[in-house]
Amino acid sequence: MDIYQAVTSRRAVRGFTDRPVPREVLERVLSAAAWAPSGSNLQPWHIYVLTGEPLAELKRRAGKRVAAGDPWDEREYEMYPSALKSPYHERRSAFGRERYSALGVAREDWEARQRAAADNWQCFGAPAALFCYIDRDMGRPQWADLGMYLQTVMLLLRAEGLHSCPQMAWSVYRKTVAEVLSPPDGLILFCGMSIGFEDATVRYIRTGRAPLDETVTFVEGSALPSHVA
Ligand SMILES: Cc1cc2nc3c(=O)[nH]c(=O)nc-3n(C[C@H](O)[C@H](O)[C@H](O)COP(=O)(O)O)c2cc1C
Repeated sequence: MDIYQAVTSRRAVRGFTDRPVPREVLERVLSAAAWAPSGSNLQPWHIYVLTGEPLAELKRRAGKRVAAGDPWDEREYEMYPSALKSPYHERRSAFGRERYSALGVAREDWEARQRAAADNWQCFGAPAALFCYIDRDMGRPQWADLGMYLQTVMLLLRAEGLHSCPQMAWSVYRKTVAEVLSPPDGLILFCGMSIGFEDATVRYIRTGRAPLDETVTFVEGSALPSHVA
């Protein structure tokens, strides 16, 4: 698989089979992903990989909280700005529309939406997951390093025939994750990531992307732009 295929075939998969992911594959992927760049080579990611009984236990504990209608843990970071302005607001709405219409869930069917969201805490059936933490005192550039690392992991998973779903959703049950992982005190859970083989029977709508000229500006040519001259 070439790098373009890895990039374009990666998507947030929300339905996995129970086919196990071999430990040596995960080690190969995570060893290569360690070559992701980071400012001053800090490598600020702290990764926990769960499979087998520990992951089953995490799913059980999270499932109990969902069933009990437990409140979410208080936030350690905001997932999104409280008022999303244009064009982000529209993009988020389009994503929600597509996600739930693929599942046949109506916009106003709050319960069905909650049920679909709850699949997050079962890792969408995946037999493997990783959890990505960062030191509390790290700044925005180091959080960006996490993104580069996680995307590298996801692309390498594609090269192994595997799929993934990054999940900030786990941050709202971070205490339950911590019960199972016992991370050191100074770490914040950024996200989880479900990992496994895709269940091809689960319906989805491929997300779109903004046209290139909405997000990319080429500054080129033989003359300087007028505002610079
Ligand atoms: C940091 C991060 C956190 C995410 N958290 C979740 C999540 O909690 N649950 C989920 O179903 N998808 C989650 N996603 C997946 C996004 O919804 C998805 O990447 C986006 O809609 C684009 O679709 P695609 O990845 O399928 O191309 C997350 C993605 C990122 C990058």
